[in-house]
Amino acid sequence: MRIHRYGDAAEIRADDVPRPVPGPGEVLVRVEATSFNPSDIGLRRGLLRDIMPVELPVTLGGEVAGTVVGTGERVVGRASGAAAEYVAVPARSLVAAPTTVPLAHAAVLPIAGVTAWQAVFEHAKIAAGQRVLVNGAGGAVGRIAVQLAAHAGAHVTATARPGSVDAVLHLAPIGVGDAASLLRPGGVLVSITDRVPPPGVHFVTRDDAGDLAVLVALVDAGVVHLDVRTRPLADLALVHREAEAGLLGGKTVLVIHGR
Ligand SMILES: NC(=O)c1ccc[n+]([C@@H]2O[C@H](COP(=O)([O-])OP(=O)(O)OC[C@H]3O[C@@H](n4cnc5c(N)ncnc54)[C@H](OP(=O)(O)O)[C@@H]3O)[C@@H](O)[C@H]2O)c1
Repeated sequence: MRIHRYGDAAEIRADDVPRPVPGPGEVLVRVEATSFNPSDIGLRRGLLRDIMPVELPVTLGGEVAGTVVGTGERVVGRASGAAAEYVAVPARSLVAAPTTVPLAHAAVLPIAGVTAWQAVFEHAKIAAGQRVLVNGAGGAVGRIAVQLAAHAGAHVTATARPGSVDAVLHLAPIGVGDAASLLRPGGVLVSITDRVPPPGVHFVTRDDAGDLAVLVALVDAGVVHLDVRTRPLADLALVHREAEAGLLGGKTVLVIHGR
């Protein structure tokens, strides 16, 4: 599924292209599923061209769950151009997929999952006994962030009285408002959308196979539950339109080779 120029969802089209040839350090992955992420809309509209320059035409899809051609290993990882039947991916970006959930569902882990992981543990440094407010807890990142913070032994809530919160994770695409005023002294405000003034933290997710591998283990341990809706890849333009209209809800993965 590619765009040849920036624009609305009508620009997304299914093209027949040669199977990618992996370069040095890359492997060819037969894609089971990719995920839709809100940033895909920004990429498609051309809003990200300064921070994520791409060459047009570009294949959509920023993460993959699939099987390595030749070895059959089931893997997940960040991957450019995964809204396709096959994608070439740097081997270092891939980790073994969870074995206890459908492979397609694991397509939520490389971006939403790793973002939640880094927000909770790397930036907010949430630990047992802390109280955490998660803004956007119903979103893809939020659903996983809530489970990770709870697993760390924190008390997680979506609302809080001013002055009672150790950490605020701001994961919704709206202004962060006066969330910092909810924090107790020394508390931390972490945002993945709005920029926040220091000592608050705004971050862009790092591609980290180590974090991803820990998440996979937590899925297989039954700690993190993946709650996804699957759609066929042919619906990709429709998914973009529904997301722009605020009608998508939940986390959507696009299934290519799945049943
Ligand atoms: N910094 C990074 O590296 C990074 C990485 C991943 C994502 N992001 C960004 O982080 C945001 C969340 O990502 P996601 O994949 O979790 O997206 P998502 O699944 O669309 O979740 C967005 C969440 O924001 C809530 N929300 C939307 N509009 C709202 C409003 N007006 N008032 C209150 N809540 C509102 C939604 O509530 P409902 O569930 O009720 O609709 C949902 O819970 C997106 O903006 C995404 O682009 C940044």
